[in-house]
Amino acid sequence: SDDARYDTDTALLGRPVDEALADALVDVAARVADGAVADYIPELAGADPGAFGISMASVLGRVYGAGDRDALFTIQSISKPFVYALALAELGPEEVLRHVGLEPSGEPFNAISLDEDGRPANPLINAGAIVTTSLIPAAGADERFARLRDTLSRFAGRELDLDEAVYRSEAQTGHRNRALAGLTLAAGVLGTDDVDDATDPYFRQCALLVSTTDLALMGTTLANGGVHPLTREQVVDEIVARDTLSLMATCGMYDRSGAWIFRVGMPAKSGVGGGIVAVKPGEFGVGVFSPPLDPAGNSSRGVALLEMLSARSGLHMF
Ligand code: DON
Repeated sequence: SDDARYDTDTALLGRPVDEALADALVDVAARVADGAVADYIPELAGADPGAFGISMASVLGRVYGAGDRDALFTIQSISKPFVYALALAELGPEEVLRHVGLEPSGEPFNAISLDEDGRPANPLINAGAIVTTSLIPAAGADERFARLRDTLSRFAGRELDLDEAVYRSEAQTGHRNRALAGLTLAAGVLGTDDVDDATDPYFRQCALLVSTTDLALMGTTLANGGVHPLTREQVVDEIVARDTLSLMATCGMYDRSGAWIFRVGMPAKSGVGGGIVAVKPGEFGVGVFSPPLDPAGNSSRGVALLEMLSARSGLHMF
């Protein structure tokens, strides 16, 4: 007898949730095939372009899914809002804002996107995310990564593993990210005085392995005021969860953030591994996975799937 707004706990589109999700995957797979798997991180080039999965987790702790829901892939940029949440919890919004802004930059994820003071405007593209990681208090790169991994694992409700090969592949080729860190160090907004103490934990946070179920539960933890729906742990406080969702609503999909919130109406974050997390505040989180990306770096099928579910089943917030 939970109240009616938890309708998704029993039905979606008037059907059992797992069935509705399985049909949605078939429908989107038949319509959307464009996009290319990311290869600027060489180790990502081998991803299976046909992998396609979705999971949905409600604040009541029910988990649904279909397709390759348990396949593991690297979280990449989807780590960014969760690390931002940790920075907010550790330092408070004023101090975080001194280093990184709160504006959708309208630029690609790897852009040299800095304001007149050298401060990245957008915490959810690489420049701003590297600065955010650098702010996490720690004695060095290893301790900083240990703290990031611990936090992301609490959001997921299980210990997340590192994909060593993807990490090494990005560490060997991530010159642009090191350059972004260098520019922010020169501007005085990086939290460390050693570029590698920022980029090394950043590369590792991006190489943590998740499934769509992990992403759904991470999203649900934000939807649920910072409380994981299954472990019941308060991972971050309610205000931090709210602030993080606000940021995802405006900045989560790079230079497609405006079209995304217009069409899908849920705070979200994508990653070049092919994952997307989307959140309906107070209700549920959704994780999707399909490696081929559109030109902005968002999963083509993932975007289409969430657009379709939003249009057909009233998931849009507004
Ligand atoms: O820094 C990078 O380029 C990657 N580790 C993450 C980028 C990313 O996921 C952008 N996503 N769509």
